[in-house]
Amino acid sequence: MCGIVGYIGKKNVVPVILEGLKKLEYRGYDSSGIAVIDKGKISVTKCKGRIANLDNIVKKKNLFGNIGLGHTRWATHGDPSDRNAHPHTDGSGKIAVVHNGIVENYASLKKLLIDEGHKFKSDTDTEIFAHLIQKFYKGDILKAVQEALVLTEGAYAFAVICEDEPDKIVAARLGSPLVIGIGKKGEYIVASDPIAIVKHTRKVIYLDDEEVVLLQPSGYRITDRHNAEVEKETEEITWSLDRITKGGFPHYMFKEILEQSQTVYDAMRGRILKEEAKIKLGGLESHLKWIDKKDGKITGLKCLLNAKRIIILGCGTSWHAALIGEYMFENIIGVPVEVEYASEARYRNFIVDKNTVVIGISQSGETLDTLAALREAKKRGAITLGLVNSVGSTIARETHGGVYLHAGPEIGVASTKAFTSQVCVLALMVLLMGQEKKIINKKTSHTIVHALLKIPEQIKEILEQSDAILNTAKQYVNFNNFLYLGRGYNFPIALEGALKLKEISYIHAEGYPAAEMKHGPIALIDKNMPVVFVATDTEDQIYQKIISNIQEVKSRKGQVIAIASKGNKSIGEIADSVITVPKTLDFLTSLLTVIPLQLFAYHMAVLRGCDVDKPRNLAKSVTVE
Ligand code: G6P
Repeated sequence: MCGIVGYIGKKNVVPVILEGLKKLEYRGYDSSGIAVIDKGKISVTKCKGRIANLDNIVKKKNLFGNIGLGHTRWATHGDPSDRNAHPHTDGSGKIAVVHNGIVENYASLKKLLIDEGHKFKSDTDTEIFAHLIQKFYKGDILKAVQEALVLTEGAYAFAVICEDEPDKIVAARLGSPLVIGIGKKGEYIVASDPIAIVKHTRKVIYLDDEEVVLLQPSGYRITDRHNAEVEKETEEITWSLDRITKGGFPHYMFKEILEQSQTVYDAMRGRILKEEAKIKLGGLESHLKWIDKKDGKITGLKCLLNAKRIIILGCGTSWHAALIGEYMFENIIGVPVEVEYASEARYRNFIVDKNTVVIGISQSGETLDTLAALREAKKRGAITLGLVNSVGSTIARETHGGVYLHAGPEIGVASTKAFTSQVCVLALMVLLMGQEKKIINKKTSHTIVHALLKIPEQIKEILEQSDAILNTAKQYVNFNNFLYLGRGYNFPIALEGALKLKEISYIHAEGYPAAEMKHGPIALIDKNMPVVFVATDTEDQIYQKIISNIQEVKSRKGQVIAIASKGNKSIGEIADSVITVPKTLDFLTSLLTVIPLQLFAYHMAVLRGCDVDKPRNLAKSVTVE
């Protein structure tokens, strides 16, 4: 969390930084700030609140310069306030720093610096960097940064400017993302995410851990913390700029929900050979580079097919997609699957070996817990795969192989389109494995592929009900507690529906497997507790069981909103409100049932006047523990 941006070039840095910060605001939005070298002096402006506040203050100052830094904050150390906002400066005010991450040994470093006479102005860990760099500064800012970094533990992506060397930005990364945009004629922009860069250039370099970059109009230089040169390749951003604008929609979240018929299609595009009903996933085949430690062979897809166990890791919404993956892999392939919260797996004796495939699911590809758990799994000899949306992100680069989601940038803090793309990619993986292992025959392959290809149109059909879902939301907008229930593939959807509602509307909502209701949540049910049942027709007994659960709620005066299959007549006789979705295979049903729940949460939040794209206390990309 926290977004950083720095610019050096011929343009006035102020609008470039402010614009970059607005793009990064999804990463944190409790305070922001900017540092500019204006007429040879560092000028820092920072304040609590959204970037719009900073914008207003900066406009009155008439700042101008060709080099500067900006920061949007999600507080970790120190409350959100003007003085804790970044950039932070050293004692002389000549060095300014912006930082994303946590300095874990900040207490001991702070004590050391205070003993040496440094005076601190904030409660943040970041200020340590400014003072440490000052301590080591002897006319070479790059050297001072390298020396300071050797002492710091934790995670960082940071950038520094220095008044005495006004043509340099030094930036570094360990654990938090950082990308450098290479512009024309000595123009560089460094940021936490390429979305703050793409307007200026499409040529980027993704920094890796422990790398430090020096940016100057005359060129750039990348080193490690001990000043050894590092060679890096430049990459090209391929997605278009219009994917990061609201495009006339009131919120990014709404736009992203509505994009799903396209994004699910994009997740499949080029990956299904329709005639043969075959699946091609390059990142699991030709690009999967897992080297067998014994004979040194690169085994490609084979290691995935030989897996004795699959572990799927994720956080938040991505963890819900992982749960659906568990049902898919076990039901179709019959391979044992465990789903883990990345934050839990990494701190226990995480038992994996070379016969285990560990799949990390992450929209951002930067969630620290997911990344750390994957690293741990890799260290212990497992094959690691990333199901990631952000191209070039750390998880994408550090795993042995994987599949990109191709959903385009997701800006709304509550994840929507990334989720359906994750589920779609999991379905493709299962299909590929099933075919290769000869578990799925030709006929079934054709049935699944046919159903998959229908999904984008079916999503469109659900999206057309947005106004009807808004009307349903109006009926329930004043309730403060909700229960979401589902079974089978719809159990993770109950969890996801509840998460969506609570994160953007601040309504308390819990998701449960429907049958578990009897073991606790049923005690909560009365007329003030609406229950959302995800109760689509199923190929097995589950539908009948869930109808019994609905009866149990009704007989306790609970109100029921049902997500049901189109054409189902009976459910309308017991539920108070019904929203329908088209029929598909059970295996794919969650791709459809989640959509009305996203829309319901969205409309509820808007009706309650909440800031949908930037819900309080949340951030899109969680790069701290
Ligand atoms: C944050 C976001 C969630 C997201 C989760 C995992 O909590 O607010 O929307 O699901 O992180 O993020 P990832 O990028 O790893 O999918």
